[in-house]
Amino acid sequence: MKGLILSGGYGTRLRPITYSHQKQLIPVANKPILFYAIEDVLEAGVEEIGIIVGPNKEQVMATVQSQDWDAEIVFIPQDEPRGLAHTILIADKFLDDEFVMYLGDNILREGIVKHANAFAGNNYDASIMLTEVENPEQFGIAELNYDGTIKRLVEKPKVPPSNLALVGIYFFKPVITDACNSIEPSWRDELEITDAIQWLIDNGYEVGWTKVDRWWKDTGKPDDILEANRLILDDLSHEILGEVNCELRGRVSVGKGTKVDENSVIKGPALIGSDCEITNGYIGPYTTIGNDCEILNSEVEDSIVMDSAKLINAGNIVDSIIGRGAIIEKNKSLPKGRKFVIGDTSWVRI
Ligand code: G1P
Repeated sequence: MKGLILSGGYGTRLRPITYSHQKQLIPVANKPILFYAIEDVLEAGVEEIGIIVGPNKEQVMATVQSQDWDAEIVFIPQDEPRGLAHTILIADKFLDDEFVMYLGDNILREGIVKHANAFAGNNYDASIMLTEVENPEQFGIAELNYDGTIKRLVEKPKVPPSNLALVGIYFFKPVITDACNSIEPSWRDELEITDAIQWLIDNGYEVGWTKVDRWWKDTGKPDDILEANRLILDDLSHEILGEVNCELRGRVSVGKGTKVDENSVIKGPALIGSDCEITNGYIGPYTTIGNDCEILNSEVEDSIVMDSAKLINAGNIVDSIIGRGAIIEKNKSLPKGRKFVIGDTSWVRI
């Protein structure tokens, strides 16, 4: 089986972070989201991976190539986000075999081995993964027959026929290319993968499904990124490589070269990268701090602080995503008041 991982698109709902990061490269628990997808695909035994790249293709390629992967990886450019089914058409030459298609902004706790085995063990032309969601209007949704087989699939229905959402991971035989060639663009002018799978059903092909047992997250919005961070940190192992002189509560991971003074407090689960300096700081539960960060007289909880950011006399920061190299500090000069230099479409709650 081959792997097709999608890492294109503009990620507009994650601006301003996505002005500088391709959305699949945003770090969750100090690892680009995309790497979780690559690891899952490798764990399922895939040896050849095609990665669809779009607006920031150089950044995606450089980040992926900065690691040694146990697979051959090729990059397939997509000129514009024209839909998930469109990526199958542009990857046509690469996809000469069965494949798993994995949306690079999805994170799945249980990996895909069980689901890949179900696809391999049945003679399905396609197999999808379903999970119950509270907001079915925002996903592709499956309606099942009484016998549990798939009756129909509908993309972001206004009146959802069920709460069973399509997870962004799909298993296909090459016939999916015929389906993608046969469908028309949707109202959002995209070739929808949901419509392509519906075409398979309508034309008598076998479409199976498996249920996701543990958590799954589509990291489309800032709150989703923070929730994915919390879910990953729930499984964090305790490991202290840096020089930590303060009280630690719960599971905490601190990277090499990081120094934490005796006046600080860290309450896990919390992940702190390497070469950080934390002085008189409080790092609260579900916080990830990147590498080279400085936290001085500041408190941070339930947040992601990316590499080289500084929080200096910054008060109490909660539920936040702080980009690389960002600085939050108390204003000491006159006139008194809040001073900002923030990027386009940023949002600040004070
Ligand atoms: C896409 C699919 C949708 C699926 C979702 C999962 O939606 O079209 O069917 O439920 O991924 O992440 P999109 O992220 O393009 O809105």
